[in-house]
Amino acid sequence: MASESQNWVLVVTARTPTNIAVIKYWGKRDEKLILPVNDSISVTLDPDHLCTTTTVAVSPSFDQDRMWLNGKEISLSGGRFQSCLREIRSRASDVEDKEKGIKISKEDWEKLHVHIASYNNFPTAAGLASSAAGFACFVFSLAKLMNVNEDQSKLSAIARQGSGSACRSLFGGFVKWIMGKDKNGSDSLAVQLADEEHWDDLVILVAVVSSRQKETSSTSGMRESVETSLLLQHRAKEVVPKRILQMEEAIKNRDFASFAQLTCADSNQFHAVCLDTSPPIFYMNDTSHKIISIVEKWNRSEGTPQVAYTFDAGPNAVLIARNRKVAALLLQRLLFYFPPNSDSDLNSYIHGDKSILQDAG
Ligand code: ADP
Ligand code: DP6
Ligand code: CO
Repeated sequence: MASESQNWVLVVTARTPTNIAVIKYWGKRDEKLILPVNDSISVTLDPDHLCTTTTVAVSPSFDQDRMWLNGKEISLSGGRFQSCLREIRSRASDVEDKEKGIKISKEDWEKLHVHIASYNNFPTAAGLASSAAGFACFVFSLAKLMNVNEDQSKLSAIARQGSGSACRSLFGGFVKWIMGKDKNGSDSLAVQLADEEHWDDLVILVAVVSSRQKETSSTSGMRESVETSLLLQHRAKEVVPKRILQMEEAIKNRDFASFAQLTCADSNQFHAVCLDTSPPIFYMNDTSHKIISIVEKWNRSEGTPQVAYTFDAGPNAVLIARNRKVAALLLQRLLFYFPPNSDSDLNSYIHGDKSILQDAG
């Protein structure tokens, strides 16, 4: 290290949005490398709403790697954090900050320690993909700090080793996680199908039914499904490969009817797999079911889908409206069925601002 003093600190801050799968990932064929049993497709949310912000710092005065999540120190000893740190460190390059007189060589990175502070601006471990935004931001911010020269897809394969869904958060817009064939996972990575502008009529509303931490983490839930659900085997082999092709086509053509039909069907099948698991896993609750009924009835009465719903491993609804006008009507309906400050479970709508109500006409 060129710098004589031990007092310097080099800092990088990054922000990464979460993503919500419209064709779900549920099941691993390799637990350690996090290799999935099927491809998946997601939409990355607007970074202004649900996101993780992570600051990483390096200094010769740090004597160990440490991390704080939402203000509380957590252990970095877990295999997932260690895999990501190892993969990033091994790709580090020289870094020079002339103003501060800091010069870090490739070799120095093996000896230097990092401190990491991360905040999620939405509920953690509640089924809103905090692990996706969290690990994508972890990898991205460390890669920036350590001057890693890899493209986003290569970084996505590293983020995948933190949490599978994280690989898709390195891109905006519509993203596909290709399951890959290699035993070492080198071809299991994310690619962008279409950018943020491709289908900007869509409006996404997240209805937070409960911000409580779920009882069964995604990791253990899908492990139990792989071990016990025959429906999961059928889904991975027979159903998802066809749906992936149909979903890619729907996105390319901005075909909302097909998009909505596939999104809702896939969410429902994923929750059916959870029910087919032994012992069964219940991620949705009565409020989630009520939201499904409201949307299904509305779509049927219109003759063509207006809104798609999807639920990850938790009770919270992600609702995708075909345009702003429909989003405004949707919000009106949700406010009617779940009045604010009543004893209804639905306490907030955190993605999509209420000014869209003006569009209801
Ligand atoms: P979720 O539905 O929120 O993704 P998971 O069960 O998949 O829930 O993952 C939750 C776990 O993800 C947390 O317990 C934590 O280990 C990890 N995680 C969440 N946020 C972050 C973050 N900002 N940085 C690193 N890891 C995170
Ligand atoms: C239902 O990526 O959280 O959200 O790879 O074990 O960390 P790990 O699981 P995680 O699982 C996400 C499951 C899902 C569907 C999806 O995002 O595709
Ligand atoms: Co997760």
